[in-house]
Amino acid sequence: MKQKIVSGMRPTGKLHLGHYLGVIDNWVQLQNDYDCYYFVADWHALTTKYDKTSELKQDILNVVMDWLACGIDPNKSTIYVQSLIPEIAELHLYLSMVTPQNWVERDPTLKDMAKILKTKEGTNTQISYGLMGYPVLMTADILMFNADLVPVGIDQVAHVELTRDIARRFNNVYNTDFFKEPQPKLNNCSLICGLDGNKMGKSYHNDIKISDTAEDTSKKIMSAITDRTRLRKDDLGHPDECEVAFKYWKIFGNDAETGTVRSECEQGLRGCAQCKRELGAKINERLVNIREKRNYYENHIDEVKDILKTGSQKAKEDAHVILDKVRSIVQMY
Ligand code: TRP
Repeated sequence: MKQKIVSGMRPTGKLHLGHYLGVIDNWVQLQNDYDCYYFVADWHALTTKYDKTSELKQDILNVVMDWLACGIDPNKSTIYVQSLIPEIAELHLYLSMVTPQNWVERDPTLKDMAKILKTKEGTNTQISYGLMGYPVLMTADILMFNADLVPVGIDQVAHVELTRDIARRFNNVYNTDFFKEPQPKLNNCSLICGLDGNKMGKSYHNDIKISDTAEDTSKKIMSAITDRTRLRKDDLGHPDECEVAFKYWKIFGNDAETGTVRSECEQGLRGCAQCKRELGAKINERLVNIREKRNYYENHIDEVKDILKTGSQKAKEDAHVILDKVRSIVQMY
């Protein structure tokens, strides 16, 4: 039997190249060797945005369209919406009973989130009971399918550690070995910076969306920062000090292309404008099929909804089996 993988993403709307290269492409590879469960964490979105839900449905669809376009395959993986599996909420309740309060209080991500909430104007500055429970909810997501591995970024590893702690605690309390202790699976993907050289992020307005048109992408690339010490096109360039463009070349170009760009830049034979024009074309080449597929789903939104319905049904059936066992272990009525 294949090992099981569970991973989720918040419904933040249209995804960018950071998501594609850092997360989704990795998920796509894993589909062949593991039994994968990929879900949209809409309850997690509520922990901080419970008062801003008007776009939630559309955001979920946008995330899933990006997944499908990038190659997440509903015939290989189970794709679902967290809130369509109420079993997760019930499991969350049982897990919350055995989780000591100080285990969630010391969660580092929660502390960061509290800080961010406090500095954002116009948002609720209170940490709600639901937000406190965020790490336990994530634990429920993972244990609901008794996952072996959880592909996450480095910032989420502490949560998977907590999941292991809670699984062990549940097993101890009820004298069972029912829950596996899942392992975090870090990916070795390249991190892509934003157009301004900082971390790529929607709220920094420095991102390229998977769903951007080729034209928009080319325009955005022309605004990318290059080598700040270089004023004229025939000045000798310093690719290693180029803040964005050359870094992108290393991600999107092959060795020969990157080599040519480097030597032409260093000899002052390639201006930054020309370099970025070619780079834009290169990135668009990589995304052409993905964008075509995404367009297809935009125009066949019912297919997307069907995929989510079928996936959620399957996830619900699997979750039901686990929850029945948990209820009986806890000796519920
Ligand atoms: N907490 C994750 C994030 O903010 C999303 C998430 C929720 C998740 N539940 C999960 C990831 C379960 C992996 C497994 O990115």
